[in-house]
Amino acid sequence: MAQLDRKTLVTGGAGFLGSHLCDRLVGRGEDVLCIDNFFTGTKRNVAHLVPNPRFELMRHDVTFPLYVEVDRIFNLACPASPVHYQFDPVQTTKTSVHGAINMLGLAKRVKARILQASTSEVYGDPEVHPQPESYWGRVNCIGPRSCYDEGKRCAETLFFDYQRQHDLDIKVIRIFNTYGPRMHPNDGRVVSNFIVQALRGEDVTIFGDGSQTRSFCYVDDLIEGMLRMMDSDKGLYGPVNLGNPGEFTMIELAEKVLRSTGSKSRLVRKPLPQDDPRQRKPDIALAGSKLGWEPKVSLDDGLKETVAYFRKLLAS
Ligand SMILES: NC(=O)c1ccc[n+]([C@@H]2O[C@H](COP(=O)([O-])OP(=O)(O)OC[C@H]3O[C@@H](n4cnc5c(N)ncnc54)[C@H](O)[C@@H]3O)[C@@H](O)[C@H]2O)c1
Repeated sequence: MAQLDRKTLVTGGAGFLGSHLCDRLVGRGEDVLCIDNFFTGTKRNVAHLVPNPRFELMRHDVTFPLYVEVDRIFNLACPASPVHYQFDPVQTTKTSVHGAINMLGLAKRVKARILQASTSEVYGDPEVHPQPESYWGRVNCIGPRSCYDEGKRCAETLFFDYQRQHDLDIKVIRIFNTYGPRMHPNDGRVVSNFIVQALRGEDVTIFGDGSQTRSFCYVDDLIEGMLRMMDSDKGLYGPVNLGNPGEFTMIELAEKVLRSTGSKSRLVRKPLPQDDPRQRKPDIALAGSKLGWEPKVSLDDGLKETVAYFRKLLAS
């Protein structure tokens, strides 16, 4: 099917990743239906797309069924940062689980291909480093992060059961920490947190001793990987890790942010939150071999773009 004829549904399309995905899809000529309940996403993220006849924005909560005719579904709806997903943990699990059931039901009815935005959180606090897709994870099922981690794990289960039971055309990606313009300024995620604190001249908060590591993927790289997975041959179900394996300690990240913003903020330490993983790094060999994908944007270049976005946002 030519991309021009394709109708694509993006759930959570007014969020950080969803809005960049909508940009790419509209840019390549697809008709995009963006649905969002605006819990963490905002109309501002997609306002520039609204005048485009290829784009349609609808307020809808994925925990309720949706009846539309589409060829493809990207299921991104779910708050992604601990402050937001812990605000109403029951709703978070519902969004992942009921949302997956509703979107899989829709995909089954209209025979659509469906992609799930899963997460590295399915690996929990891992004993294997870096994490390949074959690792089953180490997740606490009763902690404050469980609503997100277990909701996403259950959603993956549902995707694979719909595939086995109903021969659904599924794709599952596991996204590792991604950053870039349009991140929520108050979501407590480390990159946005550090940048906003540095730009405001506030203390930059490091949890624990700052030696824990994370890997950070720039949004453009991530969306490229997501599109390659959606466009891949039928039968490549995943899960496929997408992320940047470059590993940085929190101290290294904070120092880069201070350099990039020119801020004189101090680094201050606070206790580590419960169940915070010590290290997280994707093994992306599968994405390399199956999708020919690897991230291209360095942390310094990505931070430059992200800092410029937040500078403008905070000034407005
Ligand atoms: N950004 C990352 O680093 C990262 C990492 C792993 C996984 N992910 C996954 O990618 C997806 C997008 O994440 P993001 O970083 O863009 O976060 P985000 O919070 O910016 O986007 C999520 C979007 O979903 C919407 N939403 C939430 N609950 C909904 C509901 N019940 N019905 C309809 N819409 C709802 C929100 O309003 C928001 O627009 C999420 O599923 C997240 O779990 C993101």
